[in-house]
Amino acid sequence: MKTIIGNQKTYLNADEVNNFINGTNSREDVIICPSYPFINTYLEKSKYTVGAQNVSEKTNGGTTGEVSASQLRTLGAKYCIVGHSERREYFGEKSENIVNKITRLFEEGIKVIFCIGENLELRESGTTKDFVGKQVLEVFDNIDRTKLEEVTIAYEPIWAIGTGLTPTNEEIIDVITYIKDLVKDKYDKEIKVLYGGSVSKKNIDELNTIDIVDGYLIGGASTKPEEFNYIMERNV
Ligand code: PGA
Repeated sequence: MKTIIGNQKTYLNADEVNNFINGTNSREDVIICPSYPFINTYLEKSKYTVGAQNVSEKTNGGTTGEVSASQLRTLGAKYCIVGHSERREYFGEKSENIVNKITRLFEEGIKVIFCIGENLELRESGTTKDFVGKQVLEVFDNIDRTKLEEVTIAYEPIWAIGTGLTPTNEEIIDVITYIKDLVKDKYDKEIKVLYGGSVSKKNIDELNTIDIVDGYLIGGASTKPEEFNYIMERNV
């Protein structure tokens, strides 16, 4: 069975979160990452396992506006996304920031969903594998490798996020095989790799045929109850 993780970004307001919960068949094996203010709503009103979309690089203290890994743990979050391309692009996150965040999450026993992926220019110039490989090594070389089993990679081509475009199955297999082999060769660990980028009702059956994909990180389609139910039903 494939892991399904919903990244709801800031798509939903309070009423819409309640509608989503009421309109979907929540399951413990499906992870939803809502905005911070709604983590409790999901924990109280649904069966979903809950994750966060971001975490502070710092421990508890004088860091106004941040949310720490310790706060997330005590709230009940089991997962946290790091390195999403939107954080890298709009908030200037670099590998060193991602290393700090993962270190904080390891300290609190929160599982990590680490996003990597190339933009269209890199894809077209044929350098996708070099680029995502570098993204992995820059982070994995600098975190506690005894805890790599706490990390799941999400391969998300930037040009596929929110665009309705997706790589072919062959392209997905090519990159994910490369990532898994790299981690195995370099760190002697087998790691789970998810695919993300415009996963939808339309392409889920075709994506499900790819054995090497361990699951999906789903944005837009994880905010639409009927579509999300459909995707969950295809993965039981
Ligand atoms: P999308 O987003 O499914 O809307 O393309 C995926 C993501 O950004 O995690």
